[in-house]
Amino acid sequence: MSTDLPAFDEVLSRAEGIGGWLTPSQAELLWEQAVAVPAGGLIVEIGSHQGRSTVVLAAARARVVAIDPFVGGAMFGGLATREVFLRNVADAGVADRVQLRQVRSGLLRQAWTSPVDFLYIDGKHDYWTVSDDLRWAAFLPPGGRLAIVCTNDRILKLFTITGLDGVFTIHSTVDDAVAAVQG
Ligand SMILES: C[S@@+](CC[C@H](N)C(=O)[O-])C[C@H]1O[C@@H](n2cnc3c(N)ncnc32)[C@H](O)[C@@H]1O
Repeated sequence: MSTDLPAFDEVLSRAEGIGGWLTPSQAELLWEQAVAVPAGGLIVEIGSHQGRSTVVLAAARARVVAIDPFVGGAMFGGLATREVFLRNVADAGVADRVQLRQVRSGLLRQAWTSPVDFLYIDGKHDYWTVSDDLRWAAFLPPGGRLAIVCTNDRILKLFTITGLDGVFTIHSTVDDAVAAVQG
């Protein structure tokens, strides 16, 4: 780990000023995963919104590809959110490490070829989109890591039926999952 990394508390206080849903424990998990990415490595984030999780990931000095089409509607705010995202990333001093791709994750994946060291899936949370986003795991090398925000019952069932629980442990709450990963 580079010695010039900021302290997690500093990163968290920066992120907490940004609109979004990332909890402090989730932020800590992302931070731990991001600092473990090797020098020159790549993080792919699916679903960036205003950049709350993006600034945590990028503060760890990794390169981050942030994917978000900036969907419309009251919850996500549409294209105006793109401007908020860009401002937040610039204010956090991490703009040089963040590449924004304004596109749906599934569309970008069709042309994607690069290995991904850490994949963070927090885009559209419906069954079809999450199961499609899981295909990004094909770009993880051995030892690559994946974090998903998912509360969809059908996705959890899919994990059970396919035996994916052997690879990804199922936890009943986000807090349980975060606690288990953090040991
Ligand atoms: C829960 S928010 C992300 C929150 C963000 N990670 C944070 O920490 O605040 C979900 C985001 O996913 C985006 N989104 C929706 N469909 C998407 C897709 N197909 N690919 C990528 N992002 C998508 C939405 O525009 C929205 O900004």
